[in-house]
Amino acid sequence: MPVSIVIGSQWGDEGKGKITDLLSPDVDIVARYQGGANAGHTIAWEDESGAEEEFVLHLVPSGIFHDNVTCVIGNGVVLDPKAVLEEIEKIQALGVDVENRLKISHNAHLIMPYHKAVEAAQEQERASANDDDEIGTTGRGIGPAYTDKFARTGIRVVDLLDRDVLRQKLRRSIEEKNAILRDVYDAEALDVDRIVEEYVEFDQKIDSYVTDTSKYLCRALDRDKRVLAEGAQGSLLDVDFGSYPFVTSSHPTAGGCCTGLGVPPTEVERVLGIAKAYCTRVGNGPFPTELDNEAGEELRQKGGEFGATTGRPRRCGWLDLVALRYTSMINGFNELAVTKLDVLSGMDELKVCTQYRYDGKTTRRFPSEAQTLERVEPLYETLDGWDEDISGVRHFADLPTEAQDYLRFIAEYIGVEIGLLSNGPRRGQIIKDVAPAATA
Ligand code: IMP
Repeated sequence: MPVSIVIGSQWGDEGKGKITDLLSPDVDIVARYQGGANAGHTIAWEDESGAEEEFVLHLVPSGIFHDNVTCVIGNGVVLDPKAVLEEIEKIQALGVDVENRLKISHNAHLIMPYHKAVEAAQEQERASANDDDEIGTTGRGIGPAYTDKFARTGIRVVDLLDRDVLRQKLRRSIEEKNAILRDVYDAEALDVDRIVEEYVEFDQKIDSYVTDTSKYLCRALDRDKRVLAEGAQGSLLDVDFGSYPFVTSSHPTAGGCCTGLGVPPTEVERVLGIAKAYCTRVGNGPFPTELDNEAGEELRQKGGEFGATTGRPRRCGWLDLVALRYTSMINGFNELAVTKLDVLSGMDELKVCTQYRYDGKTTRRFPSEAQTLERVEPLYETLDGWDEDISGVRHFADLPTEAQDYLRFIAEYIGVEIGLLSNGPRRGQIIKDVAPAATA
């Protein structure tokens, strides 16, 4: 059973890119299974001269910097051809071979300029409505592209291969979207001919990467190859299990891996939940432990909590164990990786949400419906903080006792071992001997 899944256990931005990059040398294939260029997976390292390097991946899986790894963009991803080609060029400029190591599913749906235009118009409309209910999307056209997929009017990568079919489908889609843009949103119509020409051109550039990735992955699994499935966003943004409608339009949760890659669930052996040592959220929607004060600002500045894709300041708050227990339940985490513990250094005390109060009653149940979650009051336990800079620590036993206690508290509450601990953005800033010490 050689599939492992890396899943965001909160609202995204937990550090999945770094953990995927770390685990890549032990696998043969790294595969993205959902989302699109709304993701921003940051990989940071030191070059030979010791200078800091950083790369933000949006579509290409985070295994690309390891020569032994083949990367797959699965059928569950919505692909912006322009964004992926730009990303490939940037990676190639670093001297990395992408041509022979990246495979793109022929069944992945394409993001079109009209998806972004429709999304912009929808968000504007929502923002100006009386109840101010804009989602705060990344503006990458993700929602409208998935809408077309399920309405069976989407255009897939495979459609790029036949120009006549592509022209015909594009023309029909653009004309339909133009009618919506003009008549419903009073927005500017798009130029059909320009878009048709642009997308016909993508075909030539993308052709060599396109294949039936489900077949490729299943054959690889038959030959005992190891696959790491890389989720994007976080479980609390799942379209079914997150705080709908303030969610993304795909399934970042474990189930999304099988449908987004075309691999059987019986092949999955490890489900690794990535949890930041505190919480962040970008965009709108309920966030019970949000700190709209100095402590929140301190976390934002120390943690560099600004969107890797949009640059938006992230909302910051205390660790929410009620939410984490919920995402552990729906994903079946058999291991946790806690990230950004170093950011908590210097805080006098640390609050951890262990219960919610709702309608006068306390509960450890996480309500995924936005209207209830909006009204819960978080109840905290307070743990001691620590002053020491822990970013250079490489062993659990060398962490301040308070940091060890903080991790033990998380592992015990969730009932899942912490297998990895990240204490800084760079590759080497990792502690691998947390379990079983944290649960002992
Ligand atoms: P969309 O995915 O662009 O449709 O945005 C829907 C919601 O998901 C918004 O609240 C976004 O801020 C959030 N979101 C989408 N992608 C990410 C991500 O990679 N990290 C964190 N939040 C995200």
